[in-house]
Amino acid sequence: MTEIHTPRLLLRRWYDDDLTPMADINADSQVMHWIDDGSVRDLEQTAEDIERWEEEWDEEGFGLFAVELLASGEVAGFAGLSVPEFLPEVLPAVAISWRLGSQFWGQGYAAEAAHATLEFALQDRGLDRVIAINRMGNDASENIISKLGMVLDHETTHPVYGYPLHIHSIDLTEFQA
Ligand SMILES: CC(C)(COP(=O)(O)OP(=O)(O)OC[C@H]1O[C@@H](n2cnc3c(N)ncnc32)[C@H](O)[C@@H]1OP(=O)(O)O)[C@@H](O)C(=O)NCCC(=O)NCCS
Repeated sequence: MTEIHTPRLLLRRWYDDDLTPMADINADSQVMHWIDDGSVRDLEQTAEDIERWEEEWDEEGFGLFAVELLASGEVAGFAGLSVPEFLPEVLPAVAISWRLGSQFWGQGYAAEAAHATLEFALQDRGLDRVIAINRMGNDASENIISKLGMVLDHETTHPVYGYPLHIHSIDLTEFQA
C-alpha cells in the first residue's frame, strides 16, 4: 500500500468512500474552470475517473493520490503523477497535477502534496524528470509549479481545445527534497 505522510496530509490510494467528496469537488465550476473545456463532472464521471486513476496505479506503479487532511480525515482532492496521453508530443513523460476543493485553497495544502509527490517520484519510483502541463492563465497552478522549482520547457497548444499550454519540467536529480 503506497501511503505518504506530510506534516498535515496523508497521500494514499482511493477508497470507495472518496467518491462523494471527489464528486463534490468535480461538480464545482470554480474548481473545473481551467481543466479540459471547463465543464464540471458528475458522480458517474467521477467514479470512472477514480477507477481509471486506480488502474494507472496498478499498471504504472504511480498515480494520483487521494489527499486526506490528517486533522479532520476529509478528502481535499488529489495530487500525483500520470502519463499525459492526451498530449503525444511530450511522451514519453510523467506529469504532476493537482486539484483541491475550493474550501481547501489558500492553505498551502496543494504545494505540500506536490512537494511530497516529487519526493515520491524520485526516491520511491526512481524517476529523473517530471513535467507539469498548465493552461496559460491558471496562475494558482503556475504558482505551485514555480515553488517546486520547475522551469519552463516550452509552450504548446491543447490538441483538443486549442488553448495555449505551458510545459514546465524538473530534473529530479537536482531536486532538493
Ligand atoms: C491549483 C490549486 C491546487 C492551488 O491551490 P492553492 O491552495 O492556491 O495552492 P497552495 O498550496 O500553493 O497554497 C497557496 C497559498 O496558501 C497560503 N498558505 C496558507 N497557509 C499556508 C501554510 N501553512 N503553508 C504554506 N502556504 C500557506 C500561501 O500564502 C500560499 O500562497 P503563496 O505560495 O503565494 O505564498 C487550486 O487552485 C485548484 O485546485 N485549482 C483547480 C484545479 C486546477 O486548476 N488544477 C491544475 C490543473 S492540473
